[in-house]
Amino acid sequence: MEHIPVLLEEVILGLNPKPNENFIDCTVGLGGHSGEVLRRISPQGKLLGFDRDPVALKRAEQNLREYQGRFDLINDNYKNINKYGQYTAVLENNGILCDLGISSLQISGSDQRGFSFKEPEGLLDMRMDPRAELTAADVLNTYREEELTRILKEYGEERHSKLIACRVADIRKKQKFEKISDLLNVINEVYKGKPKPKKIHLATRTFQALRIEVNGELDNLKEFLPIGVSLMQSGARMAIISFHSLEDRIVKNFFRQESKDCICPPEVPMCRCGHKKSLKRITKKPIVPSEEEIALNPRARSAKLRIAEKI
Ligand SMILES: C[S@@+](CC[C@H](N)C(=O)[O-])C[C@H]1O[C@@H](n2cnc3c(N)ncnc32)[C@H](O)[C@@H]1O
Repeated sequence: MEHIPVLLEEVILGLNPKPNENFIDCTVGLGGHSGEVLRRISPQGKLLGFDRDPVALKRAEQNLREYQGRFDLINDNYKNINKYGQYTAVLENNGILCDLGISSLQISGSDQRGFSFKEPEGLLDMRMDPRAELTAADVLNTYREEELTRILKEYGEERHSKLIACRVADIRKKQKFEKISDLLNVINEVYKGKPKPKKIHLATRTFQALRIEVNGELDNLKEFLPIGVSLMQSGARMAIISFHSLEDRIVKNFFRQESKDCICPPEVPMCRCGHKKSLKRITKKPIVPSEEEIALNPRARSAKLRIAEKI
């Protein structure tokens, strides 16, 4: 399986890594972006990398072996970055990257972790971190029907969220959801005789929604952003690639708020918040992949890159 890092050129242009600088990659994945950053911060620059997925980190370690000694990889949620203050790259970082979402290793289904509907016999797992408790099967078997509907609608923008949730609630009374095929059967049944999505698989939206819920993806991002900024020195940049409109909105609103001195509601005549700006927005509109990149790597199609600089 080939891995192509999304918006690589644009990320490198935005972060502008220079010899001997230090960087943090919050979502190392298979090390695509990390490798290019490490090459550019040679000969002495260091990279600190995080990933919740131990399988991805093993692969990244292999892929980055030519930079051995200049990177540390940590198997933890990036929102816990404050626990790792002993690493130079955290203390003196010149830039932070988050390439959110799921890696091509996870999408391909080759590691049987339940992220992919291409593996019908796989278990409904979807945990990026196998030590976490909640699985996709738990969500399907225990969440209230209304809550399931909300998740499928909000996180997946699934137009038949209500119908799918209703069928799930019905079926689980007789038999618990275990395998990917259990869920695929429901989705196929609900879509029978109805118009199908044109460019994506029937199950894409439902799988995306469950994955976001299982891994708490939106809350991780919200929690991390202010922590990340607090770790940056003046002039350091933060680059975030998101793949979902809700994630992009979190980044957009955070960058916008942090680039203003006062964040009082407009009806307040005099500033009472005392908020001071900490960021300068480098991208007011998100950078999106070119047609050529999407043709080469369809996974890039929904990517949006936003960059901000610490004041
Ligand atoms: C899109 S991939 C990154 C690909 C990487 N930039 C590359 O070029 O190889 C996203 C990665 O982030 C990881 N991830 C997602 N949420 C995370 C979190 N909260 N903490 C740490 N890693 C996370 C996933 O396990 C996945 O490997």
